[in-house]
Amino acid sequence: MTYFTKTLKASVAFVALSAGAAVAADVEVLHWWTSGGEAAALNVLKEDLAGQGIGWQDMPGAGGGGTEAMTVLRARVAAGDAPTAVQALGFDILDWGNQGALANLNDLAAEEGWDDVVPAALQQFAKVDGKWISAPVNVHSTNWVWANKAVLDANGIAIPETWDDFVAAVEKLDAAGVTPIAHGGQAWQDATVFDAVVMSSGGPDLYRAAFIDLDAEALGSDAMKEAFDRMAFIRSHVDENFSGRDWNLATAMVINGEAGFQMMGDWAKGEFLNAGKAPGEDFLCFRFPGTQDQVTFNADQFMMFDQGGTVSDEQAALASAILSPSFQIAFNKVKGSVPARTDLDGSELDACGQQGMKDLAAAAASGNLFGSMAHGHANPAAVKNAIYDVVTAHFNGEYDSETAVEELVSAVELAL
Ligand code: BGC
Repeated sequence: MTYFTKTLKASVAFVALSAGAAVAADVEVLHWWTSGGEAAALNVLKEDLAGQGIGWQDMPGAGGGGTEAMTVLRARVAAGDAPTAVQALGFDILDWGNQGALANLNDLAAEEGWDDVVPAALQQFAKVDGKWISAPVNVHSTNWVWANKAVLDANGIAIPETWDDFVAAVEKLDAAGVTPIAHGGQAWQDATVFDAVVMSSGGPDLYRAAFIDLDAEALGSDAMKEAFDRMAFIRSHVDENFSGRDWNLATAMVINGEAGFQMMGDWAKGEFLNAGKAPGEDFLCFRFPGTQDQVTFNADQFMMFDQGGTVSDEQAALASAILSPSFQIAFNKVKGSVPARTDLDGSELDACGQQGMKDLAAAAASGNLFGSMAHGHANPAAVKNAIYDVVTAHFNGEYDSETAVEELVSAVELAL
């Protein structure tokens, strides 16, 4: 324990004692919310807990999609020292739940009526054998594009509706000497773009068959080859320093007018807001061309690790704070996501957030809501990582599109 956390613990205990309340412990939270916008959103949660006398021990990991955080987590669990709460996504949550490592939140869930307000698409990743094992924070989606409005206006570019419109817009920016696409070359970012590109190339049928049913024919299809061709087009319109760049630095390029577009989940909006930019004025948000009716979602949740049989008071307080209506609105306004409850009025959200809520409800109603492959909501980690490897190798020019398709089929088969 560092001097700082010791002091923090002592002062929390003192405040609690002097208020005549029970001594509250800290929560130690593993997460990967490290960018400016993410930190601002996390602060909403920290302050909520601080108001209840609960201290926060921060355990940040790097990288979207949670791959590194999950590696850190495995080491901590192996050492018999699981954190109190852990940010996690989709199949990773089910994996820990099936291993019996997570606390049962059913009493709290029943008391607060979670069954009635958390959408079914999220409940399937928050419960194992009828037991609530994690607290849903939000719903993000990956098939978004973020654009610098002034850059588009200066080049006479309207929001592209189709892939061909998008190609024309990108080529126009290229000809004008502007970097068309801001991108960070990290496997999870390549995969995030791939979610939307596959959806736009082959529609929901391809997305479902390839990523959810893991059907070899779909994975090896001509439509999948088309998706890889589109990735190659994108690769040839990023700047030369893209390799290894963090996603929020790519967002900053769009914010600063150094690039036209970024294809990224709606956590990117948190960066624009944190930089004081307004939707519709400084930046534009729109669905990846050709995926306007679909939503590829990922929901952040906090899993509560079993700390010896029962849910601790701090874990219950954290879960309860996360699901509370006021927190859901306050947090998601800053984070860029939409609430994980269906009973809330979204009028306080900005235009992109309201569109996000509307799209989510419409996609759920029309059978067009799909879990994001890139963010662990379409298939288990072993399959996801196998897909990441092929997508990234192709993006970096190791495979042509035809080889990539063949590699994809065999990588997924081997991972199953
Ligand atoms: C998470 C988001 C996060 C993003 C980038 C995604 O996997 O769901 O909450 O902002 O990664 O760090």
